[in-house]
Order: sequence, then structure tokens, then C-alpha cells
Amino acid sequence: MQKSLFLALAGVTGIAVTATAWAQNAPGGNAANGKMLFEHVGCYQCHGFAGQGGAAGPKLVPALEFEPFALQLRMPRQLMPPYSPQALSDQQVADIHAFVKSLPGPVNRANVPLLQ
Ligand code: HEC
Repeated sequence: MQKSLFLALAGVTGIAVTATAWAQNAPGGNAANGKMLFEHVGCYQCHGFAGQGGAAGPKLVPALEFEPFALQLRMPRQLMPPYSPQALSDQQVADIHAFVKSLPGPVNRANVPLLQ
């Protein structure tokens, strides 16, 4: 019920409402499923298996908050291909976000004795 209301609202009033609804009601993500999706739908091809970035995409760690993360998937700023709700549901986006959030991110040089 809540979900169909959300979809109806999003359909009528457009993406701005969608983004607001996400911010208020970010679904809890399953990081293990997110990891599987990250590899299955090809995020890793541009962003690397650990979100470290590569020739075709920037690093993803430390992770963006959920709202800008989801917005980038639905309406990429530039070159990234968009992922529609048919390609990735809101729940799947939340799962991928949970996975990216769980990645350790770059090492702080100050904590590596050999680099001092
Ligand atoms: C074909 C290469 C490509 C693929 C595949 C791809 N991305 Fe991207 N991604 C990019 C590029 C390039 C950017 C830089 C902004 C832009 O072009 O929109 C980006 C930006 C991002 C950002 C914003 C990073 C920041 O710090 O602003 C996130 C988050 C992101 N991608 C997540 C994903 C996820 C999750 C997937 C898989 C569902 C994915 N991307 C698939 C190329 C890709």
C-alpha cells in the first residue's frame, strides 16, 4: 500500500518528489545483495570492484549519502548510463548503496609507518 502510493505520487509529481521521498524514507539496504548487484549490473566495470575508481569512472568511496547516490543512478550528471526503476528497483539501489557504504575506502597515509 505504502509503496503503490509512493509510486503514484512519484508518477504524478515527478522526480523532485521522488528524491524527497527517498531522503525521508531511505529503505534499509542489504550489503551482500548490493555486492552481487554491483558486479551483476556492471558498476565495477567503471568504478572497480572495491569502488576505487578506474579509467571510466570516479572512486565511490567514501560513499555519498543515499539521496545523492540514488539521484546519480536515476539521473547521472554526465557520462554514466542511467539506471531506471525497471533496471534497478529502489530496494536494489538501497542494497548497492549499503554495499558501497561498507567498503573501507582509501588508506590514510598518515597511518602507514612505511610512508612516513
Ligand atoms: C560506463 C561506466 C559507468 C558505469 C557502468 C557506472 N558508472 Fe557510476 N559513474 C561513471 C562516471 C563517468 C561518473 C561521473 C559522473 C557522471 O558521468 O555522471 C560516475 C559517477 C558515479 C557516482 C557519483 C560519484 C561522486 O562522487 O559524485 C556514483 C555514486 C556512481 N557513479 C555509482 C554507480 C553505480 C552504483 C553503478 C552501477 C549501478 C555505476 N555507477 C555504473 C561511470 C559509470
